[in-house]
Amino acid sequence: MKYIIGNHKMNLDYITLKGYLKALKKVAKNSDNKVGVCVPYVYLDLAKKVLKGSNVLYGAQNMYYKEAGAFTGEVSPKMLIDFNCDMVILGHSERRHIFNETNNEINNKVISALNNNLTPILCVGETLEERNNKQTKKVILAQLKQGLKNIELENAKKIIFAYEPVWAIGTGVSATALDAETICKYIKEQLNKLFSTEFNFVVLYGGSMSEKNVSELLNNPSIDGGLIGGASLTIEKFKPLINYKN
Ligand code: 13P
Repeated sequence: MKYIIGNHKMNLDYITLKGYLKALKKVAKNSDNKVGVCVPYVYLDLAKKVLKGSNVLYGAQNMYYKEAGAFTGEVSPKMLIDFNCDMVILGHSERRHIFNETNNEINNKVISALNNNLTPILCVGETLEERNNKQTKKVILAQLKQGLKNIELENAKKIIFAYEPVWAIGTGVSATALDAETICKYIKEQLNKLFSTEFNFVVLYGGSMSEKNVSELLNNPSIDGGLIGGASLTIEKFKPLINYKN
């Protein structure tokens, strides 16, 4: 069993998504994997209605950490729960780099999601420059340490981690299976060190995953699944990933 989670980012429209979700429900029914999709906020009501009674998990791509108040334009964890969301992506590289989200803000969001029984999908990953400067492990460790501040082991166990190298996102250039496995393994090791435990934390890989490389990537012991952007936008492209078998 692997996690196969789509991140639609700011794509699709109401009618297209409606048809997509109906088809997703059917395809996911026969999958050995845990299938999920993160849609734009405004389509959560649609996801709630169409995916009702299915085995497809769904959620949002961000949230604010406060429960309510004067925060124009923001969405709270309580609102996500109102739409029965299972999960929420936090600290995606597009949030970090386009919207300047800091590790501290991301940490507040992870804590708030956990307090509200939402599964955080905490994304970490290095830029191309950091990779070229051999900073990958250092950057990821800092993102983990700061993102997990004041979180206890029992709560940390509920988090889904995602290794998403920034240079591999939306570029068509995936990390090699060896690189992805090495870093996912490193993340698990560092989490065990941080929490003085021996737990098999869930770590996904994301970045140009597609029908072409899904087996190569997921056939590795430390990669527990994929967080998929482009290849999750149509059922035709997503289906081979949902049907992945070891
Ligand atoms: P792509 O699969 O389009 O590279 O996007 C990956 C991603 O950012 C998932 O969160």
